[in-house]
Amino acid sequence: MTNSLNERFKDCNYEIQFPNSTSQLDQDEEWFMLSNGKEKRKVRLHDYKTLYEIPNLYEEVVYHQLKCKSPSVVCGILKEEMDNNGKEFSSFRALDFGAGNGIVGEQLQKSIGCDELVGVDIIPEARDAAQRDRPDTYDGYYVMDLSHPSEKEKEKLQEWKFNILVTVAALGFNDIPTCAFVNAFNLIESGSWVAFNIKEKFLSKEDNSGFKETILEMMKDSIEVVNNKRYCHRLSINGSPIYYKVIVARKKNHFHLCTEE
Ligand SMILES: C[S@@+](CC[C@H](N)C(=O)[O-])C[C@H]1O[C@@H](n2cnc3c(N)ncnc32)[C@H](O)[C@@H]1O
Repeated sequence: MTNSLNERFKDCNYEIQFPNSTSQLDQDEEWFMLSNGKEKRKVRLHDYKTLYEIPNLYEEVVYHQLKCKSPSVVCGILKEEMDNNGKEFSSFRALDFGAGNGIVGEQLQKSIGCDELVGVDIIPEARDAAQRDRPDTYDGYYVMDLSHPSEKEKEKLQEWKFNILVTVAALGFNDIPTCAFVNAFNLIESGSWVAFNIKEKFLSKEDNSGFKETILEMMKDSIEVVNNKRYCHRLSINGSPIYYKVIVARKKNHFHLCTEE
């Protein structure tokens, strides 16, 4: 963690303070204190609503203080693999699933340069923050729950004819469940690029999130993994590295097994 604040956050009169505790909280239990000079409150790192509502707060906490590198790692490896494959598509049409306030979209535009880029998130605060802070990044941004998409929602997304699906820092915990991920995967075209990251524990034997089984099943006939690396996603609030896996794959076929109702 650093004592300095990034320039953009300095101007908004908020202070943040991480707890001194050395005990290891699970990622979705981590918190910090937020004060605006008048009142102080405890904010969980997974309270995206609050993090997005205050401009630059998410960037300050997750990216500046906790040194999250995932958008550049995931988009960088995707770009490397796309370059290795030569020019195959006449245009890049990407779906950023679990798009949040648009940091990944911004990175995708820098690394790949999408002809069409669409964000989907489950909370309106994410869309509002993306439109407020990165108004030129997305060509469309929908608030949808892809665990149970309506026919109309599916059609709306299919019309974009996506050939890239990217999901960063949004699988597992209480975020995107396996079923929603599979539904998003089934909305993109065969041959598409798929790039996502996931915490190592969700791929371990002991875990019961369903991600390990789903990804292994998908590897049989639905995806071909072309790159798979372990890296430090970010620091925990006590400064220790949190490791994730980045997986870049090509879509072969639709996937029919869904582990949730
Ligand atoms: C840690 S943030 C990551 C945001 C962005 N991808 C990034 O890397 O900066 C997780 C995001 O996933 C979104 N999310 C959680 N559950 C979701 C779901 N079922 N469908 C779509 N988005 C979801 C949250 O609202 C939040 O914006």
